[in-house]
Amino acid sequence: MDTKTYEVAPSAARLTGSLRDIGYDFPTAIADLVDNAITANAARINIYTHFEPNGSYVLISDDGDGMRARELIEALRFGTRRAYGKNELGRFGLGLKTGSFSQCRRLTVVTRTAPKRASFQVMTLDLNRVARSDRWDITVGETSTAIERAKDLLRESPGTVVVWEDLDRVLPERYAESGWGRRRLRSLASKTSQHLAMVFHRFIGGDVAGREEVIICVDDEKLRAWDPFAPNEPERKVLDEHHYEIETERGSSEVRFRGVVLPARDRFTSLEEFERLSGPLKWNRQQGLYIYRADRLVQHGGWSGLRGIDEHMKLARAAIDFDTDLDESFQINVAKMSVELPPALRQMLERPVQELCVLADDAYRRSANSGGRSDVTTKASKASETALRDVGIALKAAIMEDRSLEEFRGALSKLRQRLPELARQLEL
Ligand SMILES: Nc1ncnc2c1ncn2[C@@H]1O[C@H](COP(=O)(O)OP(=O)(O)OP(=O)(O)O)[C@@H](O)[C@H]1O
Ligand SMILES: [Mg+2]
Repeated sequence: MDTKTYEVAPSAARLTGSLRDIGYDFPTAIADLVDNAITANAARINIYTHFEPNGSYVLISDDGDGMRARELIEALRFGTRRAYGKNELGRFGLGLKTGSFSQCRRLTVVTRTAPKRASFQVMTLDLNRVARSDRWDITVGETSTAIERAKDLLRESPGTVVVWEDLDRVLPERYAESGWGRRRLRSLASKTSQHLAMVFHRFIGGDVAGREEVIICVDDEKLRAWDPFAPNEPERKVLDEHHYEIETERGSSEVRFRGVVLPARDRFTSLEEFERLSGPLKWNRQQGLYIYRADRLVQHGGWSGLRGIDEHMKLARAAIDFDTDLDESFQINVAKMSVELPPALRQMLERPVQELCVLADDAYRRSANSGGRSDVTTKASKASETALRDVGIALKAAIMEDRSLEEFRGALSKLRQRLPELARQLEL
């Protein structure tokens, strides 16, 4: 006997509304489109923001593979049906739509595949239309100033341009014509530059195996990679890399951990470099874990609950790398901006993270600037207390630098048992 069923397809009008608020901001929404361009083998990606009273738009253009008509229709479906290879950046079939509609009401994709003929596919998904018809209909061949400019960008060769119009989230109606709106768009563009330079630094810097470097420009300004690990600073300290196998239902996959202690301010090659390496959220909040999914940064700083942010640890940064077969273990979200450490990994990372922090603390204290304003949080009232703590740190740093000191480590743990008060003062 057949089971009786009813198909209850979601209401297009209601669902598109709620899918606008799943945690993107302007830079992260653009980053999701850059993912797509990189996956389509783009070598050059341009982001343009254009302000015009009640006619502002944003273009994200790439010189990648482009899409044929069928592919474009599928690309505009919420939940694109397709398979993914290992370490492809896409996963949910949503980013193009959810990223775009988090910022605008009208999304058009202009794309071209044929290298010889300049023939374009132009398709639009418009939230006003969806709200009226309650259907997920796309329209073909729409035109506007922005769409014509997008075609111009593809005159010479194949690629794809994503067009955002009706920027209701970026420029709410009452501001859309004012100088405030112009300034806001400019400031978002500059935040986007910072964000992309960080998130895609390995791609921009040519550090991804088997890939030429990717050029990304925002309003014609070419981005310079922002590598949180300051690879050109001779005084930085790179710790040994650790590898961990994480089990999944389909086998296991490797996670890599590499800690780096950055030089303190007075050991940097220049003050400009020190300021630049501070990063979008500045030194203190940029300490911690930099988690890469298939070479694309999905978390930049913070300790994922392993410990708290601490001024003394601000020189500590660590890269964690995982492949897309661990997406579920890391609970990657649609906006690709949040992950959870798998519990097994969390446990294994405790010790190397602590080692890194001890060394970072040591580097910070040894620097000429550590006694300055920033250090008021330490309870330096009693000089002896501080001195004892420093001795403790020096001891721990010595153990870590020389692995042959295992016995010494044992002696310290005895000391901890017998003289707990002294151990506490030494912060062992
Ligand atoms: N710039 C582009 N060039 C070529 N194809 C693209 C481009 N942007 C999107 N596509 C196609 O559209 C599909 C849907 O993109 P979308 O970002 O919505 O989902 P996804 O990348 O598959 O997954 P995710 O939701 O994780 O980003 C992609 O899988 C890709 O096939
Ligand atoms: Mg995508």
